[in-house]
Amino acid sequence: MTTKQSTIGALTVSAPDISALLEPVKSELEIVEQWLNTNLVDDSPFIAELLGQVFQAGGKRIRPALCLLSAKATAPNPNELSRLQIILAVLTELIHTASLVHDDVLDSASVRRGQETVNRKWSDKLAVLIGDLLFAQASVCLARLMNPPVVGIYGQVLGDLCAGEIRQMRQQFATNIDWDAYIQKSIWKTASLFAAGTQSAPLLNACPMETSARLKEYGLNLGICFQIVDDLLDYTASSTTLGKPAGNDLAQGVVTAPALFILERKDKDSARLEELINSRAVGTPDGIGEALAIIRNGGGIEGTVDLARTYANKAKASLVGIQASICRDSLEALVDWLLTRTK
Ligand code: FPP
Ligand code: MG
Repeated sequence: MTTKQSTIGALTVSAPDISALLEPVKSELEIVEQWLNTNLVDDSPFIAELLGQVFQAGGKRIRPALCLLSAKATAPNPNELSRLQIILAVLTELIHTASLVHDDVLDSASVRRGQETVNRKWSDKLAVLIGDLLFAQASVCLARLMNPPVVGIYGQVLGDLCAGEIRQMRQQFATNIDWDAYIQKSIWKTASLFAAGTQSAPLLNACPMETSARLKEYGLNLGICFQIVDDLLDYTASSTTLGKPAGNDLAQGVVTAPALFILERKDKDSARLEELINSRAVGTPDGIGEALAIIRNGGGIEGTVDLARTYANKAKASLVGIQASICRDSLEALVDWLLTRTK
């Protein structure tokens, strides 16, 4: 297995290459990709063009990969995966993509995955509708699963995604330190969907509750870790690598872990950072430059790396008790990959 070295903050870590980790579900991921490009609810050429804009931009497809690995790790016969597991992987990516299309409207974003966003290329109205259409496609898939507990889990996820965005909106430019609120927002925005996939796959395999509970816990911790790394990359990565503008969170008043580590110190630096945020100076080139320097020089990056590691370790610990297999190995190694991702 090939490995790569990455530098996050001040730390250098090595992790296996992602394509090697996804090898056990490679053929299933190809089927998922075909499904994503198949319109399930409307076949007009214009809608096909809109969906093409959204899906041809690609994406990491981490969520479907997690569903499929969780499915194979708990399947009675991993070589005969039920078609329902493919549908689960598809609907999970559909919900994720729909939420991003809506998120780009809320953020007035112009670029996503290196491509022009739907709201930018056409309009906000069309983007809202195409996001809704993707949610409709996900609902059709969900119905095909014929599994009420899984429908309930995904219904909760839709509510969580909205709750996360509302929490973020209400906390814009807020400088009070509330780590619990930060983690809860990360669960709502991101981890809830990760956990839904890793929990539902064993449920579809009719596994014991203990197995689905462990994998739910894995997805939840991995999802929190993923969001923390996302927040970190906003401070450390370039826009070209990310395929979306970097360094934008704080300028827009979204206070994430790197800034929270400084704000909680209650010293000269935290007072200055608080002033820059409260006065909205972070929205200006000089103000954001000063704020980023305070955060970077004050250990905000290193603190965030450590926090991400804490949740990475929890994710790995959740896998204890899951039967040994190459898919379980991939789930474990994905945790390290996630810590080293650069986009
Ligand atoms: C990206 O966050 C956005 C999300 C993870 C979720 C967005 C969810 C909604 C807009 C609600 C969806 C609506 C329904 C009906 C379920 P980000 O802005 O931090 O990341 P980014 O930098 O990639 O934009
Ligand atoms: Mg956004």
